[in-house]
Amino acid sequence: MTSSPLEKPAHTNADLHPLVAGRWSPRIFDSSYELTDSQAMSLGEAFRWSPSSSNQQPWHVVILRSGTSLFDEISESGLGGFNQAWAPKSSAYAVLLADQLFEGKPRNQAATFFDVGLAASQLVTQTEAMGLRAHYMGGINPEAVAKTVGTKDQDVICVIAIGKQGTLENQSAELVEREQLERTRKEPGEVYSIDSKAN
Ligand SMILES: Cc1cc2nc3c(=O)[nH]c(=O)nc-3n(C[C@H](O)[C@H](O)[C@H](O)COP(=O)(O)O)c2cc1C
Repeated sequence: MTSSPLEKPAHTNADLHPLVAGRWSPRIFDSSYELTDSQAMSLGEAFRWSPSSSNQQPWHVVILRSGTSLFDEISESGLGGFNQAWAPKSSAYAVLLADQLFEGKPRNQAATFFDVGLAASQLVTQTEAMGLRAHYMGGINPEAVAKTVGTKDQDVICVIAIGKQGTLENQSAELVEREQLERTRKEPGEVYSIDSKAN
């Protein structure tokens, strides 16, 4: 057992920025930690300043902090499966919404989802830069989440649990086991190729 939060950096010999190499998706959060107004605004602004196709910004993020009735509502009815066991101990849910329409007409869904993914990644990078952690959750009940946040012509894409990472002490055996699983990836050659230009 350790008394400091678990680190699980990417296994790589490449020169990666610490924000990239150090990011991972923990499930153990310090439930006593509260996200400040200023931190919540930084997350919203990181999301807002993301690039998007034709700068159409087909997105919205609802940040719900722990201790509020809407956060509790997501915890109770918006999360699926094992997410219910750990995510309620985070300090906030960032609910990502994608616009279905642009100027009243249906949007290209693939382009929209790509843009929302970029903005989500920027929000997560900002989270890490503030010394916090984020965990994306696609395992949600989209209808319940939509009801809680009150969507209009929007798809619920995912919910991101955000907070201060906690330690392994006093956690359930299942959570401790999952937390310690090795992070794996496909082999480099399966994921990217680089031209053979000699430098
Ligand atoms: C869109 C998306 C949805 C995800 N949904 C869940 C989820 O519902 N529950 C969960 O525990 N992890 C979820 N994850 C986390 C992934 O399992 C995790 O990112 C992946 O295993 C790689 O681990 P790492 O983030 O620590 O590098 C999701 C990740 C993404 C990007």
